[in-house]
Amino acid sequence: MVRRTAKRAPGKDAVVASSIPDAVAIAGALGPWFERGHRDLPWRATSDPYAVWVSEVMLQQTQVQTVQRYWGEFLRRFPTVQRLAAADQSEVLEAWSGLGYYRRARLLHRGAQFVTEEYGGQLPDDPQALLAVPGIGRYTAGAVASIAFDRPAPLVDGNVARVMSRLDAVEDPARQPATAARHWPRVADIIAAGRPRILAQALMELGATVCTPRSPKCEVCPVRPQCLAHAQGQVDVIPSPKKRAASPKASFWALAIMWRGRLGLVRRPDEGLLAGMFCLPLVARDSMATADNSALSACLGVPVTRAAVTETSVKHVFTHRVWLLQPVLATARRKPASLPGGEALWVEAGERPRGGMPTVTEKLLAAL
Ligand code: ADE
Repeated sequence: MVRRTAKRAPGKDAVVASSIPDAVAIAGALGPWFERGHRDLPWRATSDPYAVWVSEVMLQQTQVQTVQRYWGEFLRRFPTVQRLAAADQSEVLEAWSGLGYYRRARLLHRGAQFVTEEYGGQLPDDPQALLAVPGIGRYTAGAVASIAFDRPAPLVDGNVARVMSRLDAVEDPARQPATAARHWPRVADIIAAGRPRILAQALMELGATVCTPRSPKCEVCPVRPQCLAHAQGQVDVIPSPKKRAASPKASFWALAIMWRGRLGLVRRPDEGLLAGMFCLPLVARDSMATADNSALSACLGVPVTRAAVTETSVKHVFTHRVWLLQPVLATARRKPASLPGGEALWVEAGERPRGGMPTVTEKLLAAL
């Protein structure tokens, strides 16, 4: 249970802390707590900087459980920076398919080529040199430098930002996110006050398992004595609830066009959502009101017989956008010169294109 001590009207016995907690005291409690026990995650068993880099890129927008299924296989396929650098982009995207946010994979690939060319395949241990690598920003530079090289470089992600906002009782919503300037020097001080490798992971572990967004487990928190939000009874109101703008929705027909028993896929443009991935051709519903035979034939430029419009639509949620997709199965009686969105790749049933298919395409095929 979260112990509450009102900030503005403390009870007789309440001791209300008011100054920013000491980094040395936080580090002194956090390090031993992490070493006593933590989640057994595969990337914690390595300090190979490349393997740590891959894990951090995957973890930035994907849940731990999902990354656990991909990280080991990715490293088996591309065991070194040089092997990743030498791979074809389509192979890298294939290994990434299902993880989403494919831009990360393209940047990781480009980063590996840069590290191979500029640093002989060895990631540097200096955060500034790491920042020069394409795709490596302040967070990843801090994570690789601290976790792989044990260097006192700060790293602040969403979990760490929440921990710091509570420890320091940051009430102003503008100063709570991971991008807020105030967290970085604070985390640098904490990480420098002990073993950076341990403390960096301990801060993340605390945010993921104890100092959670809702119902934080303050009763088992190793830094409860240092926590200003706890002392002030503000754990439940820090961080402040986010006001989310509704994501714009777009509705498409997702055309599953068969021609001679094969299915037509199109490669998405190199920029934008699902860049470079293979999907069913999408047609905006406001540009084609119905998906009957004549509309489909006009759209594809060849005679088409519709087989089915599925009853259920597929909803796919991106970070700032929602797609509502209505799958339509149809057979082209002649080969279309192209499909909406580009040149067609005709695949056999069950065949997966090189470069992999994103989850949304799998969902659509499953809905047919
Ligand atoms: N989230 C980001 N980096 C992580 C890591 N190394 N372990 C667990 N969760 C994480």
